Amino acid sequence: MKSSAPADLSRRGLLAGVSTLAAAAFWSAGARPLRAAARASARIEALIARMTLEEKIGQLTLYPDDVRPTPRPINPDINAQAQARERSSFQYDEIRAGRVGSLLGGTGVALGRKLQEAALDSRLGIPLLFGADVLHGLRTIFPIPLGLAASFEPSLAEQTARAAADEMTAVGVHWTFAPMVDIARDQRWGRVAEGSGEDPFLTSRFSEAYVKGFQGGDLKSPRAVAACPKHFAGYGAVIGGMEYNTTDMTERELRQTHLPPFKAAFDAGALTTMAAFNDVDGVPASGNRRLLTDILRGDLGFRGFVVSDAGSAEELTAHGFSADERQAAELAFNAGLDVNMGGGLFKRHLGPLVADGRTPVDRLDDAVRNVLRVKEALGLLDDPFRSLDLHRETTGVRTPEALSLARTSAVKSIVLLRNEAQILPLAPGKRIALIGPLGDDPGNLDGAWAPWAKTGEGVTLAKGLAQALPAGALTVVKGSEIRTGIAGGVDAAVVAAKSADIVILALGEAQTMSGEAHSRAEIILPQPQQDLAEAVAAIGKPVVVVLSTGRALALRGAVREADALLVSWFLGSQGGLALADVLTGAHSPSGRLPISFPQNAGQQPYYYNHRSTGRPQLAGESSFFKARYDEISHAALYPFGFGLTYSTVSYEAPEVDRDQLDWNGEITVSARVSNRGARRVEEVVQLYLRDVAASVTRPVRELKGFAKIVLAPGEQRTVNFRVRRQDLEFVGADLKWRAEPGGFLAWVAPSSVAGAPIAFSLRAA
Ligand code: BGC
Repeated sequence: MKSSAPADLSRRGLLAGVSTLAAAAFWSAGARPLRAAARASARIEALIARMTLEEKIGQLTLYPDDVRPTPRPINPDINAQAQARERSSFQYDEIRAGRVGSLLGGTGVALGRKLQEAALDSRLGIPLLFGADVLHGLRTIFPIPLGLAASFEPSLAEQTARAAADEMTAVGVHWTFAPMVDIARDQRWGRVAEGSGEDPFLTSRFSEAYVKGFQGGDLKSPRAVAACPKHFAGYGAVIGGMEYNTTDMTERELRQTHLPPFKAAFDAGALTTMAAFNDVDGVPASGNRRLLTDILRGDLGFRGFVVSDAGSAEELTAHGFSADERQAAELAFNAGLDVNMGGGLFKRHLGPLVADGRTPVDRLDDAVRNVLRVKEALGLLDDPFRSLDLHRETTGVRTPEALSLARTSAVKSIVLLRNEAQILPLAPGKRIALIGPLGDDPGNLDGAWAPWAKTGEGVTLAKGLAQALPAGALTVVKGSEIRTGIAGGVDAAVVAAKSADIVILALGEAQTMSGEAHSRAEIILPQPQQDLAEAVAAIGKPVVVVLSTGRALALRGAVREADALLVSWFLGSQGGLALADVLTGAHSPSGRLPISFPQNAGQQPYYYNHRSTGRPQLAGESSFFKARYDEISHAALYPFGFGLTYSTVSYEAPEVDRDQLDWNGEITVSARVSNRGARRVEEVVQLYLRDVAASVTRPVRELKGFAKIVLAPGEQRTVNFRVRRQDLEFVGADLKWRAEPGGFLAWVAPSSVAGAPIAFSLRAA
């Protein structure tokens, strides 16, 4: 069934008939960044000319959808505010009055059409934009973004985002609050789970891939959704990893580390972005003019609209940046925040602010223009009922193709960290005891952002293994809950372990222990699970740990020493099947860590690409007068980029085709990589660079390229990476990107700490 516009649309002549070519050109790849103030299409300018102040403010107002609320609360505060404020009948009235521009969190086609009809009944008939937090799938759940980053395969992010866009648009969503592209270097921060880890280069590649996947090749297609890279900016740097905390970093660090993934998303055409909760150098992001206007629009060339985070503009007062709500609205709006997500701040205050001359009318018109351009680019002004097709709602979710992609992407997200005596893959004919709270828990497969997933639709590890193993080979015992013990649980687990050949311990975090509002002071396994692991390991049977987690954990005792260790993150709908594929050897694991696993929780924040100190502790050294803790060296237990396969892959020393890189030239860094084992593997070959001496200190290594290659048993391949001056650039003391002539080191290696480098130099122009 084709979506159709209502018959009387022509009476709202301004919406119909005017060419949308202007919008298409505006968003086309490679278009020159326009200033926010640039005029939009004739249709939009004509609309703005006719809009009342109240209607303009309406376009800048985003409320939770009270008519189609999210099945599970995603944002308790603003939902509660909204429900106290406005019942659904009131919401229809507000929409008809032109006082709402977009809604958040709602799904459902029939009611979506009613809401859209209400919008078309408003004086100017401007359609609503429906947004939702779909980060890694709506009904078909893909691995959490941190897990998918472990695939080191950005094209998978593009494919899963495309599949998620298909499902979103099948249920009436036009706009996703994704991708989350914050660089997360402190594993205490629960939102590590939502992004692509600690590295700006890897996150940037995933960031652009997600945007391409969500938005697709044709924004007007009823299957395209607008992307919203978030949270702009620096949110990953919250002090102590504590959620919603302040940050303290130099602008150089902000530009060097936190902005590149946003730049990548904008270059890929992202239509919107979300202002963050945190402050940046004392100025809250949501009221930060330098950030939201000078940097975002000026330096990064962003052309879409900026939405606040939930209530982040209201929160300027709690930050101590505004004295009251009215000033919060003024500061946020004048700083460049276009749309308020929350309890109606703009609705209450923008009118008086404009009337008093505190907010220029031009700024108001710019913000409205930014919003209408996005609506126009998505084709909503031509077909308000796009993505509201009753037929697709039933046939367009959990399709066999989406489920198959969920399984493939889950397989590729699993990381094998340890495999002593090649205990994995499981040898045929063994009796397996699956022990632990996460072995058969359908409520903990998906991760924190899956409010539309139906519990019970996902495949647990127990179900996946039961399908893969011969009847009778598998015993499943819970042993403990995730956070608490079970009476007799450990005893039952010990009995099961004794009569098995191999124990699989399914341990980890609940999905509610990471994600928004879930920072942890200690990134360790809950004690009842640790006790369970110790008791089971004491039996002496081989132990394989499968670790569900939304962050890196500090592993201890029997878990750290297990014979094999697989990190499974939250793998989503087909997680159990994917894990069974890897455990039984149907697939060799190929994931690599997108975050470092520390030796000890106290090492946070920890990241491989830290700058060099004056006293680095080099491998093999044990002097106290070095950068280290008394108890441990400052190395990772498992570093960024690390992951094993079921084969042995060796790397020869890297080579360069020339040892001098001309200013405008390029060199090739290459290494020969060989599969010395008997199994086909996917290997992630990584290029790291180091600037030996520069005008500001540079990281000990930085990822600058990676290639995922397939190697048959015995196969050898030479992997080449092209290096140009642009790859050597960094943000200098003057806050500008620059490269400096001099010496560099290059590694082609299987992780961020492996291998020996080759030297080359950059020659001045
Ligand atoms: C989160 C955002 C999310 C928004 C809407 C906020 O609390 O920080 O990431 O998009 O809620 O649900």
